[in-house]
Amino acid sequence: MRTTSPRRGRMHRAVSLLATAGLVATTALVLAGPAQAGTTLGQSAAERGRYFGVAIAAGRMSDATYMGIVDREFDSVVAENEMKMDATEPNRNQFNFTNGDRIVSYALGKGKKVRGHTLGWHAQQPGWMQNMSGQSLRDAFLNHVTQVAAHYRGKIHSWDVVNEAFADDGRGSRRDSNLQRTGNDWIEAAFRAARAADPGAKLCYNDYNTDGVNAKSTGVYNMVRDFKSRGVPIDCVGFQSHLGTTVPADYQANLQRFADLGVDVQITELDIQQGSNQANAYRQVTQACLAVSRCTGITVWGVRDTDSWRTGANPLLFDGAGNKKAAYTAVLDALNAGGGNDGGGATTVDTSAWYVLVNRNSGKALDVYNLSTADGADIVQWARNNGNQQQWQFVSSGNGTYRLRSRLSSKVLDVSSWSTANGAEVVQWPDTNGANQQWSVSIANGYASLVNRNSGKALEVQGASVADGGNVVQYTAWNGANQQWQLVRVG
Ligand code: XIL
Repeated sequence: MRTTSPRRGRMHRAVSLLATAGLVATTALVLAGPAQAGTTLGQSAAERGRYFGVAIAAGRMSDATYMGIVDREFDSVVAENEMKMDATEPNRNQFNFTNGDRIVSYALGKGKKVRGHTLGWHAQQPGWMQNMSGQSLRDAFLNHVTQVAAHYRGKIHSWDVVNEAFADDGRGSRRDSNLQRTGNDWIEAAFRAARAADPGAKLCYNDYNTDGVNAKSTGVYNMVRDFKSRGVPIDCVGFQSHLGTTVPADYQANLQRFADLGVDVQITELDIQQGSNQANAYRQVTQACLAVSRCTGITVWGVRDTDSWRTGANPLLFDGAGNKKAAYTAVLDALNAGGGNDGGGATTVDTSAWYVLVNRNSGKALDVYNLSTADGADIVQWARNNGNQQQWQFVSSGNGTYRLRSRLSSKVLDVSSWSTANGAEVVQWPDTNGANQQWSVSIANGYASLVNRNSGKALEVQGASVADGGNVVQYTAWNGANQQWQLVRVG
């Protein structure tokens, strides 16, 4: 990665700002294909056949900034606490739906969907239930499921019927709890009761630490497979996705393996620890959902960082003042660029077009460093701003390969000094149509890989950097995400 002098940093930022101001018009042009670019999370997700939701708290509904964001951005809501067991049945057989109803009527009144969370859980149980066991607990629990699901019948698009019933023991076992001790079939009994009470709602199992392929998610997977084989009414699996600073590498593969069982998947409580990778991680989660056709929606667990249950983690899309964070823009851009079941990039190369090449791993664009027009100027990645230094034309060499010509400099991508070594610099150079300037382009699932004709090596972001200024080099092709580029047409 390059170190950026302050002067260079400022120049780049100025360009970024200018380019961002023009982004609305540009984006509409880019995405004239499958869908128009939305300007809010809910609208953009809807254009991809998905919802984008948020957890809200009844106690914050009088906060105008908060509700302004909820009104504008989200097309689904879930009650952060108000529909849990302790809230809805504080005393046995005495139900209180006041706060849950406030959230539901607000949402439905605004044309938003509602997720239900949650009918069965070992936590946030009312005191009376915590002290019960055996058959009487079983009866009381199933009565709770029936009463709450019936109260909200017809209003909930997806219910978390059971939450967090698996342990973190590395073996994929059930979690010990009073409910589990009523019998291993307590979960399926809850699903059957919920189906009977609200036949229109999708019924989900929801958990955390199940976001990648691991022992716990495999335990859930085996349960879902068993339920499907025996006709237990389950429709969806929720992945809470309370993430640290990174997304599991097999996140999408994990969603897909559940989808392949014949259930929908949903990201239900997304929040990601603040840090230099936050926006990138949000983008990766969004892209993973878009890449799995049965991933029907994403919900973030709170509005502003100051509303989050993860105090100090600043894990959400809006800062404490309600401003959009970089993570917000990353999600919106990913939704607008996403093309259903693929990476959303061009699937063939049009030699009359200008493209921004967005790296799959970092989300950053192939960029002539510091807006240089000089021979030998370095090629790096930089936050996408669609500037001329990020626009490239494919010039056919007539032998199935292409040069990539910079809109800024008219120079082409070139492996410096005809090197065939791993890590050799990629620079810009006057077009000589040399083999070190020729790249074969193969596109799969919406991502292109570019292989140099002289060296046989692939264009990549060195070290899978996600930083601005990350160096672009050639390296043995291994189809890593840092060697895959989305071709976003911008002109
Ligand atoms: C959290 C709420 O955000 C907090 O306000 C509350 O104090 C505790 O519960 N997994 C879940 C959510 O399924 O219900 C939890 O919500 C966060 C973890």
